[in-house]
Amino acid sequence: TYVIAEPCVDLLDKACIEECPVDCIYEGGRMMYIHPDECVDCGACEPVCPVEAIYYEDDVPEQWAAYTKANADFFAELGSPGGASKVGKIEKDVEPAASLPPQSH
Ligand code: F3S
Ligand code: F3S
Repeated sequence: TYVIAEPCVDLLDKACIEECPVDCIYEGGRMMYIHPDECVDCGACEPVCPVEAIYYEDDVPEQWAAYTKANADFFAELGSPGGASKVGKIEKDVEPAASLPPQSH
């Protein structure tokens, strides 16, 4: 799976969602989250993020390692909806994003 990391927090540029062929990038309160089971590893989202927030799971920078778990944790209650656009924005976040102070870009 691909993973969205800290640079997305409080920015949510959303260029990535236009590229995803399976609509598996979901909107949380302060960042977007990639569904680890729905992502097909196509890599289309990664180059379009203006702040380089998206990484293949094996390439997530060490300081953002917790975001791999965060992208999975976000869906603990949601399960696998099979498409982000029909779900819309979900007003919640998981750690570590939930506890970050406001980020400026
Ligand atoms: Fe976030 Fe980058 Fe997508 S800022 S919403 S991961 S384009
Ligand atoms: Fe979607 Fe491909 Fe990224 S399936 S989340 S655009 S790697």
